[in-house]
Amino acid sequence: MILYRSFIQLCLIVIFTSRSVSALAIEKRIPVPAGYVAPPYYPAPRGGWTSDWSESYRKASMLVSNLTLAEKTNITAGTGIFMGRCVGNTGSALRAGIPQLCLQDGPLGIRNSDHNTAFPAGITVGATWDKDLMYARGVALGEEFRGKGINIYLGPSVGPLGRKPRGGRNWEGFGSDPVLQAFGGALTIEGVQSQGVIATIKHLIANEQEMYRMYNLFQPGISSNLDDRTLHELYLWPFSEGVRSGVGSVMIAYNAVNGSACSQNSYLINGILKDELGFQGFVMSDWLAQISGVASALAGLDLSMPGDVHTIPLLGNSYWMYEQTRSVLNGSLPLDRLNDQVTRILATWLQMGQDQDYPPPNFDTNTQDAEGPLYPGALFSPTGVVNHFVNVQGNHAEVAREIARDAITLLKNVNGALPLSQNAAIKVFGTDAEKNPDGINSCDDQGCNKGTLGMGWGSGSSRYPYLDSPIDALKKRGVNYQFFNTDNFPSNSNPSPNDTALVFITADSGENYITVEGNPGDRTSANLNAWHNGDKLVKDVAAQYGNVIVIVHTVGPILMEEWVDLPSVKAVLFAHLPGQEAGDSLAQVLFGDVSPSGHLPYTIPKSESDYPESLSLVGFQVGQPQDTFSEGLYIDYRHFNKENITPRYAFGYGLSYTTFTFSNASVTAITPLTSVPPTRPAKGETPSYSTAIPPASEAYWPSNFDRIWRYLYSWLEKSDADAAASAANSSNKYPYPEGYSDVQKPGPPAGGAQGGNPALFDVAYDISITVTNTGRAAGKAVAQLYVQFPSGNPLDTPIIQLRDFAKTGALAVGQSQELRLRVTRKDLSVWDVVSQNWIIPNLEGDYGIWIGESSDALSLRCGTQSGTCEEGVPSPV
Ligand SMILES: *[C@@H]1O[C@H](CO)[C@@H](O)[C@H](O)[C@H]1NC(C)=O
Ligand SMILES: *[C@@H]1O[C@H](CO)[C@@H](O)[C@H](O)[C@H]1NC(C)=O
Ligand SMILES: *[C@@H]1O[C@H](CO)[C@@H](O)[C@H](O)[C@H]1NC(C)=O
Ligand SMILES: *[C@@H]1O[C@H](CO)[C@@H](O)[C@H](O)[C@H]1NC(C)=O
Ligand SMILES: *[C@@H]1O[C@H](CO)[C@@H](O)[C@H](O)[C@H]1NC(C)=O
Ligand SMILES: *[C@@H]1O[C@H](CO)[C@@H](O)[C@H](O)[C@H]1NC(C)=O
Ligand SMILES: *[C@@H]1O[C@H](CO)[C@@H](O)[C@H](O)[C@H]1NC(C)=O
Repeated sequence: MILYRSFIQLCLIVIFTSRSVSALAIEKRIPVPAGYVAPPYYPAPRGGWTSDWSESYRKASMLVSNLTLAEKTNITAGTGIFMGRCVGNTGSALRAGIPQLCLQDGPLGIRNSDHNTAFPAGITVGATWDKDLMYARGVALGEEFRGKGINIYLGPSVGPLGRKPRGGRNWEGFGSDPVLQAFGGALTIEGVQSQGVIATIKHLIANEQEMYRMYNLFQPGISSNLDDRTLHELYLWPFSEGVRSGVGSVMIAYNAVNGSACSQNSYLINGILKDELGFQGFVMSDWLAQISGVASALAGLDLSMPGDVHTIPLLGNSYWMYEQTRSVLNGSLPLDRLNDQVTRILATWLQMGQDQDYPPPNFDTNTQDAEGPLYPGALFSPTGVVNHFVNVQGNHAEVAREIARDAITLLKNVNGALPLSQNAAIKVFGTDAEKNPDGINSCDDQGCNKGTLGMGWGSGSSRYPYLDSPIDALKKRGVNYQFFNTDNFPSNSNPSPNDTALVFITADSGENYITVEGNPGDRTSANLNAWHNGDKLVKDVAAQYGNVIVIVHTVGPILMEEWVDLPSVKAVLFAHLPGQEAGDSLAQVLFGDVSPSGHLPYTIPKSESDYPESLSLVGFQVGQPQDTFSEGLYIDYRHFNKENITPRYAFGYGLSYTTFTFSNASVTAITPLTSVPPTRPAKGETPSYSTAIPPASEAYWPSNFDRIWRYLYSWLEKSDADAAASAANSSNKYPYPEGYSDVQKPGPPAGGAQGGNPALFDVAYDISITVTNTGRAAGKAVAQLYVQFPSGNPLDTPIIQLRDFAKTGALAVGQSQELRLRVTRKDLSVWDVVSQNWIIPNLEGDYGIWIGESSDALSLRCGTQSGTCEEGVPSPV
């Protein structure tokens, strides 16, 4: 997603360039390291073969069979960047009752709008470990997107997975573990789609750093080179769960995988997503990620966003729209593929019920004014009322506050430093405690780190309707505080032994099109340290005050070694990225209205060298930058455990004001397992249409049509349409890719339904435990379930892997609650690259099912062989 203003500047440059420059340097693939291959997979599997979508496909096929060629190609692409009110706007087929569809960012709230909620970011949601809150935020997001007339929500983000701690967009997702990410993504999808809004799971796949992500005139996008097992067991896992939840749309990443751009990687889209995962919705490109016309359609791309060519947008050039019309007429693109593209899009629209009373957009992402150009991308555009300022916030501040509060992760608390008493003498340090004095929305797409850090920057940001800052909350509570709004230790703070010092520090990151303080999305110059000399501020305060509480607003892990063990640093709280509700949520924890109950969604290292070298950011390389995932499955805690590196704070860690015990655990076998899952169900019927090339007249411009300059249309001039039709009969044939076929396949053994073979999701074991609050305050506990594969597993597998989690309600002192967790067949399987299936390598083996409050505090083990659970067992890691 790109910033408007940069585009206007770009256009001035671009006036001197011509159309012929496109497709430079990307025609030939640049070699990737030996062994990584992007195999062909054709044809694109038709959608509609699972029973949960068949009715929508039946209705869609009736619509599609009545559409003309130009109507079809109008639906499969956007009308151009800045050519409408939303960040993406498809063409319409009004004759058939199909409106333009509005696509809008982003994962944590409506981007560039008004009267919306700025929810906590994905990473904050992950830190709650609360499935109910994950779903509730999705419902609230759905209500807001629908309320603004948005058809397609461009979220959730489950990729990047957080492989690289410095990666710019990790905060948009839910944490550095595929299962945490999967629950966050799937529950968001279910919530959003319960409101009839199409959710978009993104970015497929392995988009783990911001720099060099895009294909442009001068360089191909970075190639993520990863093996099949790592793909399945880590990066694809959350996508499988999203597809299983019925997600309507998948957004393709900018980067390449194994040297083939994701937007035209047939193995990835046709093979893995549509055939193996049984995805029934439509696949869209990320903004300007599409780099070819016919090739991308054959590889399975369904919707081009925002419609323009990737090289120089805004000039009215597209790989699809009129070019796609031409490619059908000239016989290059089989009509069958176009029909499937349109059917997938319309079936999704029908699946969400958007044909019934769905509101049209009532806002404009391009301006905050009531009136503005209807087509800001056109040089001359009619103007009109574009913003109706519809308030869609409802009572969503409540769920936003609850998430912000329950995500707060207490990492250190000595001598009961927290909670604070109401009459504590408080000195507050750090500019993060108060709102940006220039205005809470003064930086486009939050592209600055000034004042309270509620979210990272980029297309995944939204405007704040208000920002409840920590200082606001202290004021409201009427506590005794003094605020020093500076990141340098002030000389006039008058330290007194009775003072409690609150120090606020931050770490920010974002999307690559904005550079903030030398960080082009990824944290290149901030490193993993706190921004604005935060380490020094903490140390300076700690030198003068005996009772220091550090509060961190951050996108991800930071290094804390310079200060975390200082004797006067008594407590540390990670408040993550709270969105608009930064204040009260924090105060409720600081003053003990509630106990903190957040847990880390990633590991915090002691040093950056604790990570494998391969997790560094890839810098400039001539040609295509290569990023080889040589660490395989070993990211985050999987790596720390394998190498026996003690982190500063482990994945899943988080303290409370109270203590809990887990007892009375039991494990029950549910579905008997086999080493290979039962045979998948066969594909059902898909719509069929005539495959004859339609007459050229279906593509002719209507007479007297008032064209908007550089808007993308699907019609062709009569002469062009006629020429294309006669080219269909020439001997000059389209150079179909190696491995091309137009015969539909039955699908791989690992497929069979949305998310894969349904047997993979059979519950193998049910686990029940009793959680008791044994401390002196009320609080919520999180039970994390990790699986340890039996010894004798021939495949090198991480020692423990998260597979499920559950959170209690607020337990009073002495109160207990039973929690239920489950382990599925897939949870106990490995991806076998030879048989291309999920297999259980050691069926008779004793799987360890570990339950605890953190990945490094596991002492309760249930064994699948004995069928019993034992407390007080030595930790596996
Ligand atoms: C990438 O290459 C590896 C090694 O050959 C292969 O196992 C994997 O399936 C390939 N992945 C994709 C998406 O092409
Ligand atoms: C398609 O067109 C036929 C013939 O014009 C008409 O009878 C039918 O109702 C149309 N179907 C739809 C779904 O528009
Ligand atoms: C394509 O969509 C645009 C925008 O809604 C509309 O003006 C045009 O008429 C549509 N073209 C066709 C062929 O329906
Ligand atoms: C048909 O048109 C498409 C789109 O412009 C073009 O890529 C393709 O090369 C053409 N095919 C033939 C055989 O001319
Ligand atoms: C610190 O608190 C104690 C106990 O409340 C009080 O007796 C003492 O006077 C306070 N000291 C200062 C410097 O305020
Ligand atoms: C122990 O767990 C079982 C369910 O497995 C539950 O019915 C029972 O009440 C629990 N007992 C205690 C003492 O919590
Ligand atoms: C192309 O050939 C087909 C069948 O041979 C014929 O029906 C069609 O009219 C021809 N199209 C053109 C534009 O010549």
